[in-house]
Amino acid sequence: MTIKESTREQWSSRLIFILAATGSAVGLGNIWKFPYITGENGGGAFVLVYLLCISLIGIPIMMAEIMLGRRGRRNPVDTMRLLAAESQRSPRWAWLGWIGILAGILIMSFYSVIAGWTVDYVYEAAAGHFVGLTAETASAKFKGLLNEPWQLLFLHSLFSFMTAFVVARGVKAGLEKAVVILMPALFLLLTILVGYAATTGYFMQSLDFLFKADFSKLTANSILTALGHAFFTLSLGMGAIMMYGSYMPNNASIAKTTLIIALMDTLVALMAGMAMFPLVFANGLEVGSGPGLLFITLPIAFGEIFAGSFFGTLFFILVVFAAWTSSISLIEPGTAYLTENTRLKRSTAAYLISFIAWLLGVAVVLSFNTWSFSFPFAGTVKTDGLFDLLDILTSTFMLPLGGLAIAIFAGWVMRTEFAFQELNLPNKWFNNWYFTIRWISPALVILLFLHSLGVF
Ligand code: PHE
Repeated sequence: MTIKESTREQWSSRLIFILAATGSAVGLGNIWKFPYITGENGGGAFVLVYLLCISLIGIPIMMAEIMLGRRGRRNPVDTMRLLAAESQRSPRWAWLGWIGILAGILIMSFYSVIAGWTVDYVYEAAAGHFVGLTAETASAKFKGLLNEPWQLLFLHSLFSFMTAFVVARGVKAGLEKAVVILMPALFLLLTILVGYAATTGYFMQSLDFLFKADFSKLTANSILTALGHAFFTLSLGMGAIMMYGSYMPNNASIAKTTLIIALMDTLVALMAGMAMFPLVFANGLEVGSGPGLLFITLPIAFGEIFAGSFFGTLFFILVVFAAWTSSISLIEPGTAYLTENTRLKRSTAAYLISFIAWLLGVAVVLSFNTWSFSFPFAGTVKTDGLFDLLDILTSTFMLPLGGLAIAIFAGWVMRTEFAFQELNLPNKWFNNWYFTIRWISPALVILLFLHSLGVF
């Protein structure tokens, strides 16, 4: 059987593929992580590096990853093995798939803990607990949650189960439909919040913070963080997008869909920043206050606006959904590998992979309260606790290096004619992409790494 003849499920249409891939891309990375790491890394210059990484590295690599997935039409391990064989190259490329599966599980372990916080905040909003919050009481509320290991464990378990449940049933059944309604709703609510933030009187200051590049604030570490976040936010470098590409219909244009996904993802991140920073400034909060930013700033706003409890509840529900449509893509590569290579049913495979991630997540839960530690990680990079360690290990190292390997494979290892067939672009556009994926994206990833690790 040739690669092309394998019969598998496919997304019902190009639009559905776009929605599913956007669902994977838009998640906690945009609404929770982007604003807080922008705050920690000094704003504008960081955002600029991030936007450059998205356009020069993220978009070309996303095209490559979707292309490999659609041509291989299998889980990442088998896709890499098959595509390597097709171009008479070493079967060891399958390792790339393995590392991706591992990265997905590692990310899932902390992703689901954070998603658990958002689940808790749905309740907090609905119960009217946001009303009258001040900067102090909002911080205290969030710190209080972190100090409740049992509650965190319950929330983490709940979210892990929700993820496994969907993946067990196959992604098409529920998720395709949910995404169609939820993504536009999230967008709408973010717009309302940006509108509210504009009334605080600190909107201009926030735009300055987000877009005025002050390079003196840019450290070597910030550059690496921006690079890593470009991969994280687009779900690149670990096989999730490859997996989604493997279910993509043959006639859809990879280039166009990639552009749409990247654009929506970036827009949501910037809007989240524009909704949050004015509140940070208006309430005298610290921009660099870290992972709690979303959970401290927005509740203050919801406590003040008209029908805030209602909108707050809706907003956190949407964040939970955004996280949900991302988390399923984190465990999909591992689940597909087991389903396609063992006698396990898809549902058993999904629960097994989730269980492994859940177990590690228990340690993450404890690391926020009873078990804190910090240790140095590769030169100047230090980590503060298990959450930080896993986050840096995956986003800053595994995803960019996985993406680098994908670029090298697509640009140098795979035969040019195969890439050309699969992308189906006019010559000029293909040549531009090919040049970028062979030279520009890999060179940039390598240079940013060497620079950040202090080599020059
Ligand atoms: N892109 C997701 C987000 O921004 C996270 C993610 C990373 C999902 C890698 C899948 C793979 O929240």
